[in-house]
Amino acid sequence: MAGEKKLRHIGFIMDGNGRWAKSRNKPRAFGHRKGADTIEKVLTECFNQEVQVVSLYAFSTENWSRPKDEIDAIFDLLRSFLKKYTKTLMDKEIRLVISGDLSPIDKKLTEECINLVEKTKHFKEHVLNIALNYGSRAEIVRAVNLVKDKEGEITEEDLSKAFYTAELPDIDLVVRTSGEMRLSNFFLWQCAYAEFYFTDVLWPDFDGEQTKKAIEWFYGRKRRFGGIENA
Ligand code: FPP
Repeated sequence: MAGEKKLRHIGFIMDGNGRWAKSRNKPRAFGHRKGADTIEKVLTECFNQEVQVVSLYAFSTENWSRPKDEIDAIFDLLRSFLKKYTKTLMDKEIRLVISGDLSPIDKKLTEECINLVEKTKHFKEHVLNIALNYGSRAEIVRAVNLVKDKEGEITEEDLSKAFYTAELPDIDLVVRTSGEMRLSNFFLWQCAYAEFYFTDVLWPDFDGEQTKKAIEWFYGRKRRFGGIENA
């Protein structure tokens, strides 16, 4: 459709793993494990639908307040996901970007992340951006500190270039599962013009079909407002 805004970048706030596990009388880590299985289905659907960038909120700066065994479980899942997904990243030419402060994270995992980021950095068509120990306010403060000594006025472009997401387009659609309607410090700047899709489905129950529904919802909204946008 002429003038239709293309969905280039989707951000997922993967919420509800704990509640999913609790309703089954299982430990929270069990929910995260099922949640990690959801990721591959969601990525496949997004990339098949020609979405260029997918951002995932894997671990926020606030998540350190969780019990140590839960934190360890999340990082273990991330490690096995990356190991398993490396072949897909290489075969499908998907660039991996990690957004966040890796300094407090296990050195071996950090090294594995950096190696994969390096190995895939020349891929252009698809990007998987994992927010890891990420907080948007911290990212903005970090960017300001990076550009503060520049001569003249600091521009929006200067800041955008200093974010972890420097070369990525802004987020067009945020999907948050589990009925919560909050942004929770997720790419605040990059979401300035995003649409928001909230669903009651818990992340471990989310899948390719649900992803397709969210994408269709995005294009439906864009069509309805198209007349005004193009006027
Ligand atoms: C939020 O659900 C989920 C998280 C904080 C962790 C998400 C992590 C994964 C899905 C696995 C590891 C990541 C990758 C990229 C492989 P919650 O625990 O807050 O759920 P609740 O609100 O029901 O308690």
